[in-house]
Amino acid sequence: EKAGFDHFMLKEIYEQPKAYRDTMGARIDAAASKVVLPEIGMTPEQIRSIRQVHIVACGTAYHAGLVGKSVIEHLARIPVETDVASEYRYRSPIITPETLVIVVSQSGETADTLAALREAKRCGARVVAITNVVGSSVAREADDVIVTWAGPEIAVASTKAYTSQLIGFYLFGLYLAQTLGTAEATYIEEVLRGLRELPEKVERILEQSEAIKEVAEQISTHHSLFFIGRGLDYAVALEGSLKLKEISYIHSEAYAAGELKHGTLALIEEGIPVIALATQDALFEKTVSNIKEVKARGAQVFGIHMEGDTELAKAVDEVFAIPQTHPLLAPALTVVPLQLLSYYASLALGHDVDKPRNLAKSVTVE
Ligand code: M6R
Repeated sequence: EKAGFDHFMLKEIYEQPKAYRDTMGARIDAAASKVVLPEIGMTPEQIRSIRQVHIVACGTAYHAGLVGKSVIEHLARIPVETDVASEYRYRSPIITPETLVIVVSQSGETADTLAALREAKRCGARVVAITNVVGSSVAREADDVIVTWAGPEIAVASTKAYTSQLIGFYLFGLYLAQTLGTAEATYIEEVLRGLRELPEKVERILEQSEAIKEVAEQISTHHSLFFIGRGLDYAVALEGSLKLKEISYIHSEAYAAGELKHGTLALIEEGIPVIALATQDALFEKTVSNIKEVKARGAQVFGIHMEGDTELAKAVDEVFAIPQTHPLLAPALTVVPLQLLSYYASLALGHDVDKPRNLAKSVTVE
């Protein structure tokens, strides 16, 4: 059932182009340049009454929610907060009937996420679920459900579920923007075109897995490393770091690149690996200057950028290029080399990739 792959995780990484296509499916009306989401039962009037959005999830799903925050704020201009579910209820969040709560869960059974959903409903909020399991508790209790058609995810480390959750957020963000009129039709068209091109671009990244494997092997000899980025690159850095810790047991930290000099830079010493993501045009120069700060202290920097950029290579030791895409969509590509990086690092260290120690696929205790 691993279809010729050595591990479920690798199989699931390679299933991503299909998962993207299936999750977009009939939800994109290319001819009309719009998103159709019949599963969202909200009337335009109800959508217009949303004053704030709370995104609540755990682990990797929370990281998808961080991207979701940027996407919704950018496209729909509604303020969004993203919380980890185990914190949300205990900070007495301000939830009103004008709050839209989005819960994100691959399994749909995560106890903290489910409890957050119930609390949101108790306070009168409408709840949209983004989940991979039709008929799960989260799917049953939410008002509206966007199913991510990633197919069953067996490996404990989440890969295709995360990227399908991103697709769910892109679709929902565009749907809100269409209804609210907060984005130009040509802009929506551009993002939609970018979305439809993603599966093929992921395939191109997967063809270069050997290059990532070499970097992973170098990294596997280290005890500690950093992931840095700004904006959406920072959100992906967090996910890359979690994935690496989860299956390779190598300690890593994700840092907003501009925040390093406020303390963490003290940890940068000769030879320490730093994975630097620099795909966001508007933040590029600032990120490069942060990269120079770590380089000057001896870090070994592996940079990820977009094809066409010629600057990053000058500032780092090695680069990996993702195909060009709309900056908003970059996370759906940049995470793929990071997934491969953690997979090959775990493999090089001889760990049980699919079943890392101490962890369960679905966390049903609070
Ligand atoms: O099933 P869920 O999406 O609710 O699970 C949430 C987390 O437990 C999960 O994403 C976890 O962080 C993964 N093992 C990370 O790869």
